[in-house]
Amino acid sequence: MEILEINYVNFRNLIDGNIKFFPDLNLFFGKNGQGKTSFLEAVYFGATGQSFRTSKAAETMKYGSNKAGVYIVYEDLIGKKTLTVKFINGKKEYYYNEKKVAYDEFYGKLNVVTYIPEDIILITGSPLVRRTFFDGEIAQTSIEYFQNLRAYNKILKIRNRYLKEKKTHHQEFSVYEEQFVHYGARVIAARVEYVNKISIILNLNYRKLFDDKKELNLVYSSELGELKKQSVEEIEALLRERIKKRESMEKRYGFSLCGPQKDDFLFVLNGHEAKSTASQGEKKSIVFSLKLSEIDMVIRAKRENPILIIDDISSYFDTNRKTSVLNYLEKRNIQVLLSSTGGLGIDSKNFYVESGVIEYGKEIR
Ligand SMILES: Nc1ncnc2c1ncn2[C@@H]1O[C@H](COP(=O)(O)OP(=O)(O)OP(=O)(O)O)[C@@H](O)[C@H]1O
Ligand SMILES: [Mg+2]
Repeated sequence: MEILEINYVNFRNLIDGNIKFFPDLNLFFGKNGQGKTSFLEAVYFGATGQSFRTSKAAETMKYGSNKAGVYIVYEDLIGKKTLTVKFINGKKEYYYNEKKVAYDEFYGKLNVVTYIPEDIILITGSPLVRRTFFDGEIAQTSIEYFQNLRAYNKILKIRNRYLKEKKTHHQEFSVYEEQFVHYGARVIAARVEYVNKISIILNLNYRKLFDDKKELNLVYSSELGELKKQSVEEIEALLRERIKKRESMEKRYGFSLCGPQKDDFLFVLNGHEAKSTASQGEKKSIVFSLKLSEIDMVIRAKRENPILIIDDISSYFDTNRKTSVLNYLEKRNIQVLLSSTGGLGIDSKNFYVESGVIEYGKEIR
């Protein structure tokens, strides 16, 4: 896939504009506080309907305005397409090829992988951070996962309400329980399958780019025990069994104690959990390898290259690691949008960013 063009209105500090991209490396450079991250965020917002900086869309609107929008023209193997996200009076609207669509029809059309300084939180943060991230990744190429997860979250809320209000003897509670098991098992099974696949690629990428003497694994850590090759039906049975065991405890606590909302994804470097043992540099390298592996996962699932967005590349790596990353990207033949406060010594198309204005073709100073 390739983004050809973007239009944006009232986005952060950016002066409304229209930018045309190039197929390979597009570098956005400029001093601190000029709008580099805001611009990359606008691209991401147009592609996914979300920000990579905040969960509150209103924060992305220019101070003092009450509507904003991003319009993207991109091309995939089939042809040219457009995506629009409008944010008006606190509500988002999504358009695909100029036609208004629901979010599940919008999300995942244009695949984007991002690497931003805050991503280190994927290792250091809570299980919720990792679940949210991997859920988004799996959903990016599987509308079925998106829908199962949404159905599960809905039923989880209802089930928790019944537990809280001590209404578990109500007849409909057992119906909800069946749905809880049905969707929960599907969510877990898809996550396990994803982890099994990406873990192998992750290890290869980490060793190739950063350290060939270490083994990196991604492990799905479930309430249900070790999961590797179980079928959906087997996971359903495990979940059902677990609910039975926890029945009295769930009633006492008043919420669900098992299911995918309790699971985690662990990065394990040479047999130790990276969260508590890996160095700062290793954590950044693990996350970067993860992002490269996501690219491979998108290619596998869709036979299309996703777009890679890297914000503030100079802040992650020492010169050696940066050079090996950039050389790798130059060879990968995918469209990359990256930002930096200075030149990178690579063969890129350069855009200068100053006071919210993006200008192509200026020399790097
Ligand atoms: N909603 C908003 N409306 C207007 N301006 C905003 C909004 N949110 C942030 N800003 C401002 O936009 C400016 C650009 O921020 P941005 O993070 O894009 O800079 P940057 O070029 O990435 O800088 P750095 O190199 O420091 O990362 C900042 O001065 C910031 O305060
Ligand atoms: Mg920035």
